[in-house]
Amino acid sequence: MYKAFVRSLSDLQAMAAQVHTKARTPVYGKGQTVNRFPVPDDKVPWSVAFPEYKPTYFEDAKLKKASYADPDILNNKAAPALKFNGTDAGELNRVSHEGRYSLDPDGLPLNPRGRTGIRGRGCLGRWGPNHAADPIVTRWKRDPKTGAKVVDPASGRPVLQFVSILRGDVKEWAIPGGMVDCGEEVSATLKREFGEEALDSTMADAAGKAALAAKVEAAFNHGVDLYKGYVDDPRNTDNAWMETVAVNFHDEDGDGLAMFQLHAGDDAIGVCWKDISRDLKLYASHHQFVEKAVQLRGAHW
Ligand code: BGC
Repeated sequence: MYKAFVRSLSDLQAMAAQVHTKARTPVYGKGQTVNRFPVPDDKVPWSVAFPEYKPTYFEDAKLKKASYADPDILNNKAAPALKFNGTDAGELNRVSHEGRYSLDPDGLPLNPRGRTGIRGRGCLGRWGPNHAADPIVTRWKRDPKTGAKVVDPASGRPVLQFVSILRGDVKEWAIPGGMVDCGEEVSATLKREFGEEALDSTMADAAGKAALAAKVEAAFNHGVDLYKGYVDDPRNTDNAWMETVAVNFHDEDGDGLAMFQLHAGDDAIGVCWKDISRDLKLYASHHQFVEKAVQLRGAHW
């Protein structure tokens, strides 16, 4: 069906190595009863023929009223054209970190990692890439009496901690990330989301908000990019998917970011400095991003 998207063998091999799994969970979305059309591993790439493929069409009813959502371009032919692979006049970034994405014969963007078993946007607001940003704020775990770094006896490496929030929607521990607003720079999203979810700036008065924002601004000066691209997320569909930029902000000496008073706010119902190890169970692809921070800092895993 999608002959136009046939790729070279090397492309195929690269895609097979990154085959998405969370984006193919049998039942779609939280509290939903929508079943994905089953897609075996070898049928994930669009370039592999799959004539029996009849993905379930699903769009969450809330998208009709949501101010952040795109129009239903499949059923409303009068809807204004969206600038896929570009930036809309309203400054909405529809460029993928993964490169140019294809459109299907109906003009719907095609998930760059292949089939998911759901057609439509599911519960995501945007057709194509839905951009998020994830601040990974780290410090060394220290002995409360001596202040010395705590070393894991098995690996012999110091233990890194990161600011983790408990997401209210799925009750899973996560990085305090969030969606990039229309026209917003990713660097601003990183600070805003950290302030809202880990410091509860949403509850402060105007002066308190400004004071917190200034603290975050100063502390978020030196970030190191850890990841930019597609996220294997359970909300992804054939036509809408999550992408993120994950950035590490590290407090080496424990006297800056490490001293923040954490308060869960906005979508978060808990917040803490979490010890990092390979056993952590985290939301979406956050485990993979945290592992990159560990490699960068030479910490225990
Ligand atoms: C979350 C980010 C996450 C992204 C992709 C967003 O809703 O806030 O933390 O990386 O989804 O899963």
